[in-house]
Amino acid sequence: MSEKKQNQSEIEKEAAAKMAVSFVKDNDIVGLGTGSTAKFAIEELAKLVKGGLKIKGVASSVHTEELAISLGIPMQELGKTSHIDISIDGADEFTETLDLIKGGGGALFREKIVASLSNNRIIVTDSSKKVEKLGSFKVPIEVVPIAYQYVVNQLEKLNGIVKLRYKEGKIFITDNHNYIVDVAFGLIDEPQKLAESLNQIDGLLAHGLFVNLTSKVIMAKDGQLYTFSKD
Ligand code: 5RP
Repeated sequence: MSEKKQNQSEIEKEAAAKMAVSFVKDNDIVGLGTGSTAKFAIEELAKLVKGGLKIKGVASSVHTEELAISLGIPMQELGKTSHIDISIDGADEFTETLDLIKGGGGALFREKIVASLSNNRIIVTDSSKKVEKLGSFKVPIEVVPIAYQYVVNQLEKLNGIVKLRYKEGKIFITDNHNYIVDVAFGLIDEPQKLAESLNQIDGLLAHGLFVNLTSKVIMAKDGQLYTFSKD
């Protein structure tokens, strides 16, 4: 990506994130996503908290937890949370039907739990994330290490091309002590059907296909904000 495009994408991410934060109300339990777009939302929320907004954050990753605490946002543990009022997170790809691929940052499992607990699930993105069909971005999948080879076999039966994720020369390990594989399935005609097949695989903790887990996508493009929702 050229420097100009990168700057443009950062401006878009920040604008979308700020709009999403405007939906947060006093006393809300707020699910905090992971990634560079979610970071803009967390920073904006922190400013509002300093100004007196009363919320509790629930983090979707250790990194987000640390960031939110460092900025003064009161937090509660995901494992002790039974309800989230609103969550704000990023995505790697989305369609107008509100299907997503998430997990570029490797936080997909906790992100899915946060989204599943949320009443109002807002996704914030720059314009590069909107696609006609999911699948150019490989689907991140979190795998329990002991089941690695079994899960790879099952993914290959679904015609997936599987790549174990590495970071800085070492196998990438998630916050939950698991592996991530990035799987190319080609363009995905039926995300729901693929998600159901993936859900059947033992040892596959979570996959990055988010189907029926989004209330609204807020995307910024060329200085304008666009909202995609089902209603
Ligand atoms: C992390 C995610 C992120 O939301 C996704 O990768 C988008 O990241 P960014 O906002 O940095 O583009 O799913 O697991």
